[in-house]
Amino acid sequence: MSQRSFLPVVLAAGLGTRMRSDLPKVMHPIGHLPLVGHVLKTLKESDASSAAVVVGPQMEALEKLVDSLMPGASCHVQKDRLGTAHAALAARDALEREFDDVLVLFGDTPLVTVDAILKVRTELASGADVAVLGFETSTPFGYGRLLTHSGKLLAIREEKDASEEERLITLCNSGIMGFSGKVALSLLDAIGNENANGEYYLTDAPQIANERGLKVVAVVGDEEEVQGINTRAQLAQCEAVFQRRKRSEVLDQGVTLQAPDTVFFAHDTVIEPDVTIEPNVVFGPGVIVESGAVIRAFSHLEGAHVGTGATVGPYARLRPGARLGVTSHVGNFVEIKNASIGEGAKVNHLSYIGDADVGDKTNIGAGTITCNYDGFGKHRTEIGPGSFVGSNSTLVAPVSLGQGVYVAAGSVVTDSVSDNALAIGRGRQVEKAGRAEELRQRFKAAKEARVKKG
Ligand code: UD1
Ligand code: CA
Repeated sequence: MSQRSFLPVVLAAGLGTRMRSDLPKVMHPIGHLPLVGHVLKTLKESDASSAAVVVGPQMEALEKLVDSLMPGASCHVQKDRLGTAHAALAARDALEREFDDVLVLFGDTPLVTVDAILKVRTELASGADVAVLGFETSTPFGYGRLLTHSGKLLAIREEKDASEEERLITLCNSGIMGFSGKVALSLLDAIGNENANGEYYLTDAPQIANERGLKVVAVVGDEEEVQGINTRAQLAQCEAVFQRRKRSEVLDQGVTLQAPDTVFFAHDTVIEPDVTIEPNVVFGPGVIVESGAVIRAFSHLEGAHVGTGATVGPYARLRPGARLGVTSHVGNFVEIKNASIGEGAKVNHLSYIGDADVGDKTNIGAGTITCNYDGFGKHRTEIGPGSFVGSNSTLVAPVSLGQGVYVAAGSVVTDSVSDNALAIGRGRQVEKAGRAEELRQRFKAAKEARVKKG
C-alpha cells in the first residue's frame, strides 16, 4: 500500500450544534485528546504523513492541534458550512495534486481504526473509483443509508431525504469514503444541493459515479469503529469504547488491573509490564508508570512519571511535573506537583510537596507542607538525601535543606539548613504543675452557674 500516494481529507469545520457547546464539536475530547486528534493519530499509524484538514473560520486552537500532531498536514478553511461535499472542496488545492488514493474522513468519528482505513484503500488499489465504508446497526436513525443491489452500491440516502422503506435499511454510511485521486475532484464538483437540507452532500458522490459508469463499492466495517458523534450522549458512548480498548491494550501488555472497569486512561498513558493498578484510579494526560510500580486505589495522576517499583496511594494525587524515583513511596492524601521524589524516599501521609526536590531516602513526615506560593510567584524547596522532616512541618520556599538534616516536628522552616544539622522552628514547651486540675474546676463552676441561671 505504501507505494500508492495517499491524501486523507479530514472534515472538521462543522459546529455540531446538537452538542450545545461553545467548543467546536471535533475539539471535544475523549481520553483527553480532541476527537479530531484521534483521527490524525490513526492516520499516522496508517502511514499517512500528511493530511488536508478542513477547519472552520476562527478555529485557531484546532489548527494548532493539527500542527502539533501532524506537522505535514495543511489546514483549509471552509467559510460557510454548506455540507460535507462543500467542506471537502475547501481542500481543492490539495485534491488538485492527484494523489492515487483520496480518503475523506470525518473529524467527529474518532474510533476509526487502521484496519478500516486499510479496507477502503485495498478496494481502491484493486480498481474501485469510489469505496464507501458502511456498517450494520440496529439504530440507523440519523445516518445515511447505503442503497445496494446485488453487491453493488447504487447510492446513499440521507435520513431526511429517505423514503419510509429506505429508512428500514440498517446498512449505514460511516462517512469514510475513498476516491481514486483521478476522479475525486470532478465528482465533488458535480454535487449539487437539491435535498431536504439544501446542503452539498458528499453522499451524492456514489450515485454520480455510477451514472458515469465508474466502479463504486461498499465495504463493511464494525459499528463500534465508525460511530459518529453528534450529541453528548454519543460522546459518552465513544469515551466508553475508548476506555474499554485502552484497558484491554494495557492488560495485554502485562499490567494487572484489579477492576478494569473502574480505571480510566488518557490517550497517551504509558504503563509498563508488571505494574499493578488497584480499583478507581484515574489517569490524566502525560503519565508514564514504570514496571513494578503499584498504583493503589482512588489515586489521580496527570503529567507524572512514576519510577520502577514505586508505590502511589491509596488516595494520592500526582500533578504535572511529579517525578517519583525508583521504589519511592507516596501515600494517602498526599499531593505532589512539579517535584521530584528521590530513590527510596517516602512521603507517606497527608502532605503537599510542590516545586521541590526531595533527595534519595529522605523521609517526609505526616502533614508536611511546602509553602511554594506567596501570592505572586512560585518558589522551590530543596531537601537533600538521607534527611528526615518531622511531622507537621512547614517549609517556606525558597528554602534549601542539606543532606542528612533533621527537622523537628511542627517546625516552620524559613532559613536554609546545613548538612547534618537539626532545625527546630517552633515554640518551646512549658509545663505548669497542677494547672490542669485548676482549669477543670474553673470550667465546671462556670457551667453550673449557667445551668442555674436557666
Ligand atoms: C454524515 C453523513 C451520513 C453519515 C454520518 C456518519 C453526509 C451528508 N452525511 O452525517 O451519511 O451516515 O455522517 O457519521 O455526509 N462538516 C464540515 N463542514 C460542513 C458540514 C460538516 O466540516 O459544512 C464536518 C463536521 O465537522 C463533521 C463531518 O463533516 O466532522 C460530518 O458532518 P455532520 O454534520 O456530523 O454529518 P452527519 O449528519 O453526522
Ligand atoms: Ca456526524
